[in-house]
Amino acid sequence: MAKQQSFSLVLVILIILFTNSSSANAAQYNVLTFGAKPDGKTDSTKAFLAAWTRACESIKPATVYAPPGRFFLLNVVFPGPCKNNAILVRVDGTLVAPSDYRLTGNAGNWIFFQYVNGVTLSGGVLDGQGPGLWACKASGNNCPSGATSLGFSNSNNIVISGLTSLNSQLYHIVINGCQNVKVQGVTVSASGHSPNTDGIHVQLSSGVTILNSRIRTGDDCVSIGAGTTNLWIEKVACGPGHGISIGSLGKDLQEPGVQNVTIKSVAFTGTQNGLRIKSWGRPSNGFARNILFQHAIMTNVQNPMVIDQNYCPDNNNCPGQESGVKISDVTYQDIHGTSATQVAVKFDCSKKNPCTGIKLENVKLTYMNQPADASCNNADGNASGFVLPSSCL
Ligand SMILES: *[C@@H]1O[C@H](CO)[C@@H](O)[C@H](O)[C@H]1NC(C)=O
Ligand SMILES: *[C@@H]1O[C@H](CO)[C@@H](O)[C@H](O)[C@H]1NC(C)=O
Repeated sequence: MAKQQSFSLVLVILIILFTNSSSANAAQYNVLTFGAKPDGKTDSTKAFLAAWTRACESIKPATVYAPPGRFFLLNVVFPGPCKNNAILVRVDGTLVAPSDYRLTGNAGNWIFFQYVNGVTLSGGVLDGQGPGLWACKASGNNCPSGATSLGFSNSNNIVISGLTSLNSQLYHIVINGCQNVKVQGVTVSASGHSPNTDGIHVQLSSGVTILNSRIRTGDDCVSIGAGTTNLWIEKVACGPGHGISIGSLGKDLQEPGVQNVTIKSVAFTGTQNGLRIKSWGRPSNGFARNILFQHAIMTNVQNPMVIDQNYCPDNNNCPGQESGVKISDVTYQDIHGTSATQVAVKFDCSKKNPCTGIKLENVKLTYMNQPADASCNNADGNASGFVLPSSCL
């Protein structure tokens, strides 16, 4: 009897604990409750915004939930600041952009979060419906520049996890002016011929981590713009596309630099570039320093390792052609695989600001089963370990 009583007591306590913990849990706002239609064609923008507004005004952690189905969204800005700093946006369905690019082509961003703190975007497929705009651009007609599929601006403590981004009009994901952002398990997919569809673009941000992601697209896999510091990229597969690029830097005279970037365990397959640093041949006070490229595998990459300080499309607007950007302390460690061209390593630095502190350690790149070539201009540094093509520093 006593045993049974204590058993019931434990049960009661467990029930109380369970009830308490679930009531302390996030308030849930399902977009269907606010009138979203998972039919792929009814504009659900207002419903998503209404669910967001409730979550944002909650003083407790809150969840916005989009169940399976296709939700058509025109374009949505999710604004902060919010009253809590733990909002989960969980998407089990697909968010679909308008296929008519005239509707969002000048909007800047299709799905946009700004001034938020502590937001996790989990799961979901973003279907950017980009091919219409790509075709317009290819035809040489006058077209809008296009919208980035997902933008986070001026936000802190962000997680983007398990998201798939398909066929963006312009960039897939942009992190701008943010601190402490974790992007993980993301898949980006667009045609290798799609214009300006960078996978992930980071700028003016600190403490961004990109992990375990797969990026197939027509432009840069990851592009790293001015003012990026403490960036960590690990276990990312790129290709097709233009590879990982620091830059273009130095477009502006006054520009914050790029500092403390680690890019490790990345694989490039059939990309135009592998590990690239690129700056305009223009005056600028920008810089890139303390960069570590470690453990990269190149498979049939046109320019596996490249520093190009003479970027000047159409030879336009580059007075004197000398880049003001100072590149220093760049380490390449354990980089191997195959180049699709004879020159696998090309360091073309600024005459006015030579690259300094370039270090090569254990590099092996071949072209058609032969040692590839290296070419250096105004690049200073040294090599250690096994380095092929032999260093031109
Ligand atoms: C460099 O960035 C990493 C994150 O990528 C950070 O953990 C580390 O503290 C930073 N180092 C310095 C010197 O700021
Ligand atoms: C390699 O470069 C580093 C710094 O750039 C320097 O400290 C070191 O002495 C150099 N080593 C050789 C062998 O030149």
